[in-house]
Amino acid sequence: MPLIKYIEANGTEYEADVAVGESVMQGAVDNMIDGILAECGGACACATCHCYVDEAWVNKLAGPEDQEQDMLEAVVEPKENSRLSCQIYVTEDMEGFTVHLPTSQY
Ligand code: FES
Repeated sequence: MPLIKYIEANGTEYEADVAVGESVMQGAVDNMIDGILAECGGACACATCHCYVDEAWVNKLAGPEDQEQDMLEAVVEPKENSRLSCQIYVTEDMEGFTVHLPTSQY
């Protein structure tokens, strides 16, 4: 299982082993990592799983699909590397994949 890193705005870092095929959001929820609320349970309908993909990984991911892109327009403090973590599914080659968590979800 790839190790996924979640970094709070204050620099606090969490790590979780997340199974291939699970979402980055589910990995946070299962490991009780604050900062990803996931109110809709991963249905791409709430945007409370907003995260910022670490610059080192941005170009290694496929871009968001239309529904996610629409939801990203509703997030607080959007950036170019904004994604919904429920729409990022872990693959074998994502060891060390890192997301930064927005301050708005605490
Ligand atoms: Fe609701 Fe991701 S969990 S949009």
